[in-house]
Amino acid sequence: MQANWMDIRHDFPILSRTVRDGRPLVYLDNAATTQKPNQVVDTITDYYRHHNANTHRAVYALAEESTELYESARDKVAGFINASDRSEIVFVRGTTEAINMVAYAWGRANVGKGDVVVTTEYEHHSNIVPWQLLTQEKGASLRYIPMDDEGYLMLDALDDILAEGRTKMVAFSMMSNVLGTITDVEHITSRCRRAGVTTLVDGAQAVPHMRVDVESLGCDFFAFSGHKMMGPTGVGVLWARKPMLEKMRPFHGGGDMIREVHKYESTWNDLPYKFEAGTPNIADVVGLGAAVDYLKHIGMGNVRRHERELTAYALARMADVPGLTLYGPRDPDRRGGVISFNFADVHPHDVAQIMDEDGVAIRSGHHCAQVLMERLDVAATSRASFYVYNTKEEVDVLVGALRKVARVFKLE
Ligand SMILES: Cc1ncc(COP(=O)(O)O)c(C=O)c1O
Repeated sequence: MQANWMDIRHDFPILSRTVRDGRPLVYLDNAATTQKPNQVVDTITDYYRHHNANTHRAVYALAEESTELYESARDKVAGFINASDRSEIVFVRGTTEAINMVAYAWGRANVGKGDVVVTTEYEHHSNIVPWQLLTQEKGASLRYIPMDDEGYLMLDALDDILAEGRTKMVAFSMMSNVLGTITDVEHITSRCRRAGVTTLVDGAQAVPHMRVDVESLGCDFFAFSGHKMMGPTGVGVLWARKPMLEKMRPFHGGGDMIREVHKYESTWNDLPYKFEAGTPNIADVVGLGAAVDYLKHIGMGNVRRHERELTAYALARMADVPGLTLYGPRDPDRRGGVISFNFADVHPHDVAQIMDEDGVAIRSGHHCAQVLMERLDVAATSRASFYVYNTKEEVDVLVGALRKVARVFKLE
């Protein structure tokens, strides 16, 4: 299907609103969260209006409908990332919860004193802090794959770490939320498999923007969030191969995750319910299913092509803005639609505030990546991030607003 970008925008009423005294909104903070199309909002509303009941627990009609909607979202997600079995899809609150679940339920049973957990210099805090907690508790150590000046991982360092023979886990993101760098996942997973090392891929910035096939990536765990792919907040996914999930102890204890409970012991429900304790976030899971339908209708190849084109156009135009430093890879084939930048000594919050006067919503700060900020030797950056509904005209507005910042701070 050839996607029609203007038609897509009609599905997002928020994109037609104005801000700050009538300026058209130019929403460029998609790496933080994306907007939601009518199809997702309507699905959630329809669920509450017509089907709301608790899942898996009752035999009446509404409960059956609710369970059916919830479980069919699992099928949609499994198909979307090419999981070989629907029971490998565990619904969680988001990427953060998924990684914490692995660090607790897998990590506490498999990482011990003297062991090594490896991550990278361009991770989000959610793929650093859970490993710090684990390694500190266990007397293990946390090591980093370094990054070069263009924002690529220096993967030879991984070979050296693996050769020491103490590594238990390598956890890394498929795409940096600050630099847009796309990680060569198979390069890492193939080396780890050979060394008998478990891998976790943080797919928060990848699943919304490119085709992801968990089978061919060769990782053991894969995590992502619904709200960055047009779905609602508060829902995400942990994928892992069935034997891996079967071996793991539960993360949360409570209703639905058990088979039998006695005074002093319990047995666990089948997968994936062993990891879905308590009443799930039913309406938002159903909404995530609608987001998957929406993205599939556009086609992930079209999403990637559009963002690649927009990023190449933006990088070329931004290169001419006086005083602007751009971070991350120059090659649009090796990066996604996330562009971080700084103006000499101007604080990124001041940049974002001036852009906001023109209706341009960008992010400024450390983007939950302070280790990366240290590596770049900056306190913060400004960041523009695109999605499938953004246009070249919006990039032009962005560049115009950047030129205004350059004028205000006399950088021309
Ligand atoms: C690469 C990456 N990992 C993890 C997260 C955390 O996602 P969430 O806050 O949805 O759990 C984000 C969010 O910005 C991210 O960009």
